[in-house]
Amino acid sequence: MYKFLYLLILIVLLYGIWNGIHKNIALRPKTHTENCQVCQIVSAQEENIQEELARIDTPEYILHYIVDIIDHGSDTLGFKGGVMEGGYVSHEDARKIACYVLEMSGRKCPHPYPKDAAMFYTSVCGGCHGNDGKGLGGNYPDLTRKKLLGIERREAFLKTMLEKLRIKREEKNSAHIDR
Ligand code: HEC
Repeated sequence: MYKFLYLLILIVLLYGIWNGIHKNIALRPKTHTENCQVCQIVSAQEENIQEELARIDTPEYILHYIVDIIDHGSDTLGFKGGVMEGGYVSHEDARKIACYVLEMSGRKCPHPYPKDAAMFYTSVCGGCHGNDGKGLGGNYPDLTRKKLLGIERREAFLKTMLEKLRIKREEKNSAHIDR
């Protein structure tokens, strides 16, 4: 009979300890990452931007930018020559012309492209950008620059965004006091 009583007391004691431990875990203050959803969103945005910035000087990125301009045009750079319409050539031809343009700035196109790209460039683009790509004395964008203007702007924009996000994250982190 006593044995049974001892066992009961032991069970009650163990239950008490177990309960105590669990309550403690529940009361433990959450860490920043557990608690601050905004911080998590901000970190994800920062990661995306950093990932794009890491690619911004690669031939693939530049090629994509040039193809996009040939397909859709450009109207934000403010040149005397006015704006550039999109769609002078098919998307397929745009891809090979873009390779030729990329190589004008001393880079290597990541994939092989047909030799007639040069002829396409001269007949479709050369009238404005010049056969040498230098932009006819500043009237049109110089396609031989190390960094094309649109990419330079994008980079500056992303860096500003990154700085804003960093400030926001730091504000959130210091405003958030563990309870
Ligand atoms: C009728 C003139 C004209 C023709 C033809 C033309 N462009 Fe343009 N291009 C411009 C102008 C003007 C701009 C700047 C527009 C702006 O304000 O955004 C421009 C912008 C560009 C840019 C962006 C430059 C930068 O520094 O970011 C690229 C790349 C480009 N053109 C490539 C081409 C290619 C390749 C062709 C041929 C398929 C072509 N262009 C045909 C006038 C032309």
